[in-house]
Amino acid sequence: MKSPFPYEHCAQKQDFFGRIEELNNINKITDSSNNLLLHSKRRMGKTSLVKKFLSTQKNKIGIYVDIFDITSPEDFAKILLKEIASVQKGDVSTVVKKLPKLFKRLRFSLGVDSTTGEINYLPSIKDLRFEELIEEIFDALFSMAKDNEIILVIDEFQQVALFKDKKIDALLRKYMMKDMPISYVFLGSKRHILFELFQYKSPLFEMATQMELECIKKEDYYSYIKDHLIITKELIDEIIDITDCETKLTQHICHIIHRDYKNKDIELEYINDALKEVLESKNGSFSALFDTFTLNKKKAFKILTTNDGNYFRQELLTEYGITRQTLMSSIKQLFIEQVLDKRDNKWFIPDRALELWGKMKFK
Ligand SMILES: Nc1ncnc2c1ncn2[C@@H]1O[C@H](COP(=O)(O)OP(=O)(O)OP(=O)(O)O)[C@@H](O)[C@H]1O
Ligand SMILES: [Mg+2]
Repeated sequence: MKSPFPYEHCAQKQDFFGRIEELNNINKITDSSNNLLLHSKRRMGKTSLVKKFLSTQKNKIGIYVDIFDITSPEDFAKILLKEIASVQKGDVSTVVKKLPKLFKRLRFSLGVDSTTGEINYLPSIKDLRFEELIEEIFDALFSMAKDNEIILVIDEFQQVALFKDKKIDALLRKYMMKDMPISYVFLGSKRHILFELFQYKSPLFEMATQMELECIKKEDYYSYIKDHLIITKELIDEIIDITDCETKLTQHICHIIHRDYKNKDIELEYINDALKEVLESKNGSFSALFDTFTLNKKKAFKILTTNDGNYFRQELLTEYGITRQTLMSSIKQLFIEQVLDKRDNKWFIPDRALELWGKMKFK
């Protein structure tokens, strides 16, 4: 039986819940062809939310790309070209006839996606420079936008910052400035890289309305979880407390409880056991990550996971045998490596499971 609590793939039709206000807000922003930067801590549900939103936009063309894996600017162009080709309406032969009209300087070949079995349209990009590929992309989008409004979603957008010399952000800005019925939606969770792209003096400054995705509302959790488990509100609060509201971890714990105790009255002990199971399942990868740290970074990580604030007090520094300066520079290193993040001048571990693993291991 399919679990009502997905935690490894995007929430889809029947297992997506809550987020009514967020869906309305995104609708308002994109309805006037404005742009959106949707950000949050890791695994709060950005991708699920935007995919859900696109599925409700029957009269618009929704184009969704995830650029997490790109290793070159050309990869970025290729992913967009593939997706623009695949959203063309009609059967394969209709699309094949349409593509040369949309893309004047590009040829596409047909392929089959090995995981989904769907037809792919693969652009041959080697004859064009990167800037020319981007020009082809926007020529096609602008031509499509004559008949339909378009919503273009770029997930894991911070990846464009990897290629400093190509200035993808500045190039995008040039096309985004054109008055077209296109909404650009950018998603990401690496706060500092993402915010740098949109900060004052950056090309994308004020080019998108910012929205932070917070917790799914408690009321929505209560009603959805109670549909599938025999559980009190207090225990649901307990789960959300443990997960610090990270949607994925909440779903994972609910999944385990549902798998083992779906017809039983849920007790606190089941929740703690489920958390233990999650952390044990991640022990290998978290230990491997921890192993890559230098001694001082290990100390910094331990201090941060086992103390709430005031990491620089003398007794802690003495206990760990680390100076204030070394602790500071180790924390900064962990920040650069994206193990830590910073908000309102406070350091935090954006991956809640990793934080809980640290607490369990080192307390
Ligand atoms: N509204 C929702 N209803 C049910 N499950 C959800 C919802 N939103 C997110 N989830 C679940 O939480 C998990 C994380 O969601 P998702 O991948 O969309 O988050 P994300 O913010 O894009 O994460 P990342 O930071 O890794 O990109 C998924 O397994 C998904 O099924
Ligand atoms: Mg995502």
